Amino acid sequence: MDKNLLSNRVKTMGESATLTMAQMARDLKSRGVDIVDMTLGEPDFDTPCDIKNAAKKALDEGYTKYTPVPGLPMLRKAIVNKLKRDNNLDYNIDQIVVTNGAKQAIANACLALLNPGDEVILLTPYWVSYDSIVKIAEGVPVLVSAGIDQDFKIKPQQLEAAITDKTKMVMFSSPVNPTGSVYSHEELEGLAKVLKNYPGIYILSDEIYEYINFGSGHASIASFDYIKDRVIVINGMSKGFAMTGWRIGYMAADADVAKSCVKVQSQFTSGANSLGQVASAYALDHGVYKEMIDIFNERRKVFIKLLKEVPGFKVNEPTGAFYLFPDISYYFGKSNGKITINNSVEFSDYMIREAHVASVPGTPFGAQECIRLSYATSMENIIEATKRIKEFVKGFE
Ligand SMILES: Cc1ncc(COP(=O)(O)O)c(C=O)c1O
Repeated sequence: MDKNLLSNRVKTMGESATLTMAQMARDLKSRGVDIVDMTLGEPDFDTPCDIKNAAKKALDEGYTKYTPVPGLPMLRKAIVNKLKRDNNLDYNIDQIVVTNGAKQAIANACLALLNPGDEVILLTPYWVSYDSIVKIAEGVPVLVSAGIDQDFKIKPQQLEAAITDKTKMVMFSSPVNPTGSVYSHEELEGLAKVLKNYPGIYILSDEIYEYINFGSGHASIASFDYIKDRVIVINGMSKGFAMTGWRIGYMAADADVAKSCVKVQSQFTSGANSLGQVASAYALDHGVYKEMIDIFNERRKVFIKLLKEVPGFKVNEPTGAFYLFPDISYYFGKSNGKITINNSVEFSDYMIREAHVASVPGTPFGAQECIRLSYATSMENIIEATKRIKEFVKGFE
């Protein structure tokens, strides 16, 4: 087709970098190349059997019709209970919207709240899709960055300095994809105190990795009462319950914001799938997938130790999600005689071609000095990947 006929919106939209690298890994694998794939953004575990059984039962019980746009009351109730039990947050059922994955909850919120030209501060490194979703809603992403020296976490002064009279929203995740860093209660309080003074700014708090936390527990910025009505809590079933394919996410927000998001969703997709909702209600009522989290933690410890042994890599010790985000900028400008590495895109590209280890460059996460390595893969792969990375970098020292 004539590409000029495509909308400007789609022409300027970036492809998801994580999906692009995962696709490249799959293509090479299908050609017989022995790739160790460290790009994965989903648990390498199956959904627990009892959750699957809840969906099978729902099918037999006739949950096969359209669902209410904001979600089945049984799931919204389970979410209200979960937010109280796990986060000590009080919400009513009319403040909860069930979505087709957390991604849709983020898109709903941006479409419901942003006008063209509104600025959205992204705490950077940020999850790749934030930038694109904001742009689709005609907002303007404003990046506020933190490097590995501050554990990739933004300080209150940095946030305050980025606020203008056009700022409409601040968006971040904790635990953070891609860094694995987790904002503590005190760190969130610092940010909340800044935002207290700006009543026109909404805060989108993406907590999808809440349960994949190996530290001292999860904190939500919604727990600060003085800003709670402006916080949109995003969460979902994909990561914590290994339910990526079920496509169930949710948001908790001020009732008017929730209602506006329902309006947006009603015109795009309607209610989320019925079986997934019944299964999700069961999952939330029955608590965390501890077995999976414990295995992630074992891998995390081994991977940090091994990656720290790679010369030139700066590695922090993240306590959430299932990613490491080493700073590899030591290699910028270095050559192995054949090629010179200038940035993380080139580093990832050469590494998959030469060492057959697939990673995601930091650039699309707003951190061009890093690469993202996922440990949602076997211990065997973690050990093999590190062995290959060590060999790969030798040529560039
Ligand atoms: C930070 C973050 N938020 C949201 C999502 C999307 O989750 P869902 O599968 O529920 O759409 C992801 C998935 O990678 C993510 O990493």
